[in-house]
Amino acid sequence: MVAKKELQSKIEQITNLPTLPAIVTRVMHIVNDPSSSASDVAFVVGQDLALSAKILRLANSAFYGVPRTITSINNAVVILGLKVINTIVLSLTVFDLFPHEKKSSLFNRTAFWRHSTSCALICRFLAEKMKKFVPFDAEEAFCAGLLHDIGKVVMEQYLHEDFHKALKHAKQHRVPLFEAEQETLGYAHTDVAQWLTSGWQLPVELQLPLVYHHDPQHATDCADIVALCHYADFLCYELKLTIDEDYSAPPLNQASADLLELSPQDIDDLAGRLSMELERVNVFCDIAEG
Ligand SMILES: [Fe+2]
Ligand SMILES: [Fe+2]
Repeated sequence: MVAKKELQSKIEQITNLPTLPAIVTRVMHIVNDPSSSASDVAFVVGQDLALSAKILRLANSAFYGVPRTITSINNAVVILGLKVINTIVLSLTVFDLFPHEKKSSLFNRTAFWRHSTSCALICRFLAEKMKKFVPFDAEEAFCAGLLHDIGKVVMEQYLHEDFHKALKHAKQHRVPLFEAEQETLGYAHTDVAQWLTSGWQLPVELQLPLVYHHDPQHATDCADIVALCHYADFLCYELKLTIDEDYSAPPLNQASADLLELSPQDIDDLAGRLSMELERVNVFCDIAEG
């Protein structure tokens, strides 16, 4: 089995591996600067016309359900808020980084984005639910959920043969894909996510769930948001919001579930809310992929 170090350099040598466009980092900085205003973000975003047009489509869609028409980016920032605009910019950019080019019989890209967006929504609901005792940022939780499996799409695009070997193994032996990757390749999509995003300047709260959502016990920091993402991913499998039903669900880490202190009533409330809200996942994905 090839050592992880060797694989890491294999990944880093992929010269066309996507980097996060500067606009995303600029928006992130502005949003995190308490002295910034709506017009600062609108000015930066307004430089990219294609992105601006998509932001307006999403801001006016049923996903956000704003009762009046949003006609400008400035308007969108004022109505939706800086953090939501940050989420939209990051989401749309990441969808764009991995365009749906090749059709793969083994990996369904549409199902992948629907799983990711469902996980994002569940992360946001859980974050809102737990606001009382943990200072979760619901938008940060959404982004963590959206990006949690990003390593898979990188593998599909740049490490195609490896990924398909793992996918076949997972389907044949009905084991979780994460396990199949480790068994057949010696690395997993979580390692790829770490290598991919190490140069992306993402806040740790966003990067660590991508790396540890399958083994939250190993997260050295941000245990809460890692547990949240792990549990949201688990719920996606429970609710059949998966990429592929041919391989099995990753196991639940009970300590993570306990950390969230969700009551059976919380889970019931969540399931009820999700059945209505998840319809909006398709709206989000259709605009982001379009
Ligand atoms: Fe995963
Ligand atoms: Fe997942």
